[in-house]
Amino acid sequence: MQNDILEILISEEDIKKKVTELGEKLSAEYVGRNPLVICVLKGAFIFMADLVKSINVPLEIDFMAVSSYGASTKSSGVVKIIKDLDVPVEGRDVLIVEDIIDSGLTLSHLIEMLNNRNAKSTRVVTLFDKPSGRKVDLQADYAGFIIPDAFVVGYGLDYSEKYRNLPYVGVLKPEIYSH
Ligand code: PRP
Ligand code: MN
Ligand code: MG
Repeated sequence: MQNDILEILISEEDIKKKVTELGEKLSAEYVGRNPLVICVLKGAFIFMADLVKSINVPLEIDFMAVSSYGASTKSSGVVKIIKDLDVPVEGRDVLIVEDIIDSGLTLSHLIEMLNNRNAKSTRVVTLFDKPSGRKVDLQADYAGFIIPDAFVVGYGLDYSEKYRNLPYVGVLKPEIYSH
C-alpha cells in the first residue's frame, strides 16, 4: 500500500494538530447550541471520529452516505444519496463534516437539501480543500489544508475504495490510476 504512494503530502502529526485546532474553534462556535454533526460517508469517517473528540460541547452525531465519484478519479457530477439521516434537521444547528471539497457538487447538493428541510443553520467543516477543482461557487466555513491539484489518498480519501486507512495524506503514483 505504501509502495503506491509517490510522496507524503500531509503527515499524521500535522493532521492531528490541525484537527485539534479546528475542534477548538468549533467548540467556541457551538457552546449551548447542541449541534447536529453530520459525517458524510464514507470519506469523512476518520476526520469525523477524530474531530468530535476535540469538540468539547454537547452535540449529537448522524451519518449520511452520498457518492459522486464511484470508482473513477473524476467527479461524475451525479450525487447519489445512499443513506439518509436518521433524525430530522428542522430547527437544528447543523455542522457538515467532509474530508475534501473538490468540485463542490457533493456539498452544494447536501446544503440545498438541508436548507429545504429547514435546518436553523448549516455550516461546513472540511479537512482538505482543493479550490482548483471547483465547478460551483462554494466555500467551507472551516477548512484545514489547501490541497494542490493532485490525486491524493489517505485519512479517509480513497482511490477505488482503497487507501482510506493510511494515517497520512499522500499523492498516488500516476501508474496506479492510469491503466
Ligand atoms: C469524495 C469526497 C467528498 C467528495 C468531494 O467522496 O469524500 O465527499 O468526493 O468531491 P466534490 O466536491 O467534487 O463533490 P466520494 O463521492 O468519492 O465518496 P466517498 O466519500 O465514499 O469516497
Ligand atoms: Mn465523500
Ligand atoms: Mg471517494
